[in-house]
Amino acid sequence: MSEVGQVQRSLPVITRSDEWYLRATGLIPAYTQTLAKGPGQYVAGVAPKFLQRGKGSHVWDVDGNEFIDFNMAIGPLSLGYAYDAVDRAIREQLEDGITFSMMHPLEVEVAELVREVVPNAHMVRFSKTGADVTSAAIRLARAFTRRSKVICCGYHGWHDWYISVTDRSLGVPKAVQDLTLTFDYNDMASVTDLLDGDTACAILEPMIFDEPRNGFLHELKAACRRNGTLLIFDEMWTGFRFALGGAQERFGVEADLMCYSKAIANGMPLAVLAGRADVMGLCDKDVFFFTTFGGEALSLAAAKATIQELRDRRVPDYLARQGRVLREAYNDLARDLGMPYTQAIGADCRTLVTFDPTVGNPLEMKSLLQQELFARGILWSGFHNLSFSHTDADVAHALTAYREALFVLKQAVEAGAVRQALLGAPVEPVFRRTSNTMKSSTAK
Ligand SMILES: Cc1ncc(COP(=O)(O)O)c(C=O)c1O
Repeated sequence: MSEVGQVQRSLPVITRSDEWYLRATGLIPAYTQTLAKGPGQYVAGVAPKFLQRGKGSHVWDVDGNEFIDFNMAIGPLSLGYAYDAVDRAIREQLEDGITFSMMHPLEVEVAELVREVVPNAHMVRFSKTGADVTSAAIRLARAFTRRSKVICCGYHGWHDWYISVTDRSLGVPKAVQDLTLTFDYNDMASVTDLLDGDTACAILEPMIFDEPRNGFLHELKAACRRNGTLLIFDEMWTGFRFALGGAQERFGVEADLMCYSKAIANGMPLAVLAGRADVMGLCDKDVFFFTTFGGEALSLAAAKATIQELRDRRVPDYLARQGRVLREAYNDLARDLGMPYTQAIGADCRTLVTFDPTVGNPLEMKSLLQQELFARGILWSGFHNLSFSHTDADVAHALTAYREALFVLKQAVEAGAVRQALLGAPVEPVFRRTSNTMKSSTAK
């Protein structure tokens, strides 16, 4: 990796990546199991497509190119790749077994730990994916309220009840689609328009990139309470990251149910559903939420070690500190270069680089910046997902790379030649459309 202040521009050789890509062609639909990791998120012919290994905040692709990773597996690596304390816990558990024929004490230990660090986690269940626990939360809310409709804000996973609000809804029956409606963040009117006697729950990411304004989360909770509607926080991104106790702790609002995954086990597949005992208790019998690998012990061992590290080393504070430096320095650079059309926004620990669509095609601007960052040793798709392994040197390297890459973008924007400066097809949006309150009339 180059010294700070002397970043060399050198496009990565991606021959082996291309070979793997060819082998996957016609075999793996969409190529990827995680859309945000797929080829559409990276400039074709410039960025590698397959990674081989990682250590700390650095990754090596299948051609041996090294990058500082600002995606961190789309969130799970809160501590970093191959993090010793977690890997040790996994190895020790591996000696004893992975999945058992009866319950394992780790299920109790990790549930106790979650209850200790997460506000309002009176009862706790485990599963494997974010979509598992958001879907279980919806079923619980419907069972508890005896109502059908769901209102949501944010991304919540691939299952029928949610994906129907996106433009990837083929295969979801209309009867199911009609039961999910979307509201806008920080817009109480869009919530109250939808709340009615059949609204079982409001589920949202308590913060994506905009801060809650005018007491939005408190207002939302009050409106839900008045309407007999449960409030569900989808804390995939905020949990164990905004604070150990996630958004509930950071914003001082308690939800009825909370869903966690990503940061909790440093890369191992684990998801957590927690919340009010009277609601969660329905999982005892009436609501069916069981799965073969729910108590899989390697992930639970990883979660125990991860939560302990996050707590003992005050990791959320570290993520906030490093992320703030990056966001503020990015915005300073953009200002100094006379580029008011790009800025980094969001909570300190997770920021997003945005581009003003009135200046040019945002996906093309993002692509050119990405191309120039890959050429300077940075794996980037518009986010700064900080981990405990992102060092001061990583941040300094990124800022030097940004200074140079932003200058390339500025020249291209001023020449009206962003598309021409791209060496391959630009990145694609993940979802082209998410429906809004349009469907409320059909759902009533
Ligand atoms: C906020 C949020 N909720 C739910 C999910 C779904 O989680 P999973 O992909 O583990 O099913 C995601 C995934 O990115 C997410 O970001």
